[in-house]
Amino acid sequence: MYQKIRQIPKVELHSHLEGTIQPSLVKQIAKRNNIKLRDGLFTPQGDFAWDDFVTFLQAYDEVSSCLQYSKDYRDITYDYLKSCALEGTIYAETFISPDHAAEMGMSYEDVLSGCAQGIDDAEREFGIIGRIIVTCVRHLGPQQAVRIAQLMVDEPHPYIVGFGMGGDESQYVASDFTPAFQIAIDAGYPCTVHAGEVCGSESVWDVINHLPMISRIGHGVRSAEDDELIKTLANRKISLEICPGSNLALALYPDWKSHPLNHILEAGISVSLNSDDPPFFNTSVGKEYQNGAEHFNLDLKQLLYISRMAMESSFADTKTKSHLVKQINEWSID
Ligand code: ADE
Ligand code: ZN
Repeated sequence: MYQKIRQIPKVELHSHLEGTIQPSLVKQIAKRNNIKLRDGLFTPQGDFAWDDFVTFLQAYDEVSSCLQYSKDYRDITYDYLKSCALEGTIYAETFISPDHAAEMGMSYEDVLSGCAQGIDDAEREFGIIGRIIVTCVRHLGPQQAVRIAQLMVDEPHPYIVGFGMGGDESQYVASDFTPAFQIAIDAGYPCTVHAGEVCGSESVWDVINHLPMISRIGHGVRSAEDDELIKTLANRKISLEICPGSNLALALYPDWKSHPLNHILEAGISVSLNSDDPPFFNTSVGKEYQNGAEHFNLDLKQLLYISRMAMESSFADTKTKSHLVKQINEWSID
């Protein structure tokens, strides 16, 4: 069974590129960029050190600040997509945060050209298709968000397929970000917003009631606490990008049996299974599919169904989407 799960054609829709960098790669990049990493960034075992959501975001920012050149972005994109492909992933959308790059004095163009090179190299060598979602960071505020949305629209790239927002969900209200999301929607970009992760169902209501046309919610697991919201998400066909390993690591739930994935699936909501920030949470998209079997009792058919739902709710162009949905449908369970 576990060997067979490894082979399922998988789709990842929720990872933060800057949060996918393995400790060994951060060390390598920091060394070549002459950056001294703080000792406390790592645990004695060599993992990233953090205690809660705030210290996780700080460690994540610190790792991001090692990225200074186009080649750094090429290497992290390639490394991430390679590791996904080796676990059977056929398509991955990853969030990039131009705010982090700008802080290091990097141009948006250099970030994109590095990511595009990593995507091309990974596709050539492993067949995986990588795409980018440009994200603003909620706690940096609405004005920054508008700046990022405008940058994305002014400098389009064929690999950029959508606009999103991560960061500290407890800051601001959703309507503060309407201008940024309107820019993206008006230019034809589908959108996803982190909500219902650190904050409760009211945060998801806030997003779906006040932002224009949100196609997916990042996490959204806390929606399970509100029956009316669950029904609304199913009726409006809003997909949830679920990251169980991340939720457990960030102590949203005390144990696997408290996690609402099964309840959300039973409600008929479209979901995907994702890694979020793999080395920070000791996970990967492949491990999340294994978790699906081990902790949520999902069989191969159900896991394949999740992969199909993920591809259908991806922001890929129609041709790529139908080609990859076909590949998932044709995969043999036996
Ligand atoms: N940025 C990186 N990972 C995140 C998460 N899990 N929630 C919000 N913002 C993030
Ligand atoms: Zn996330």
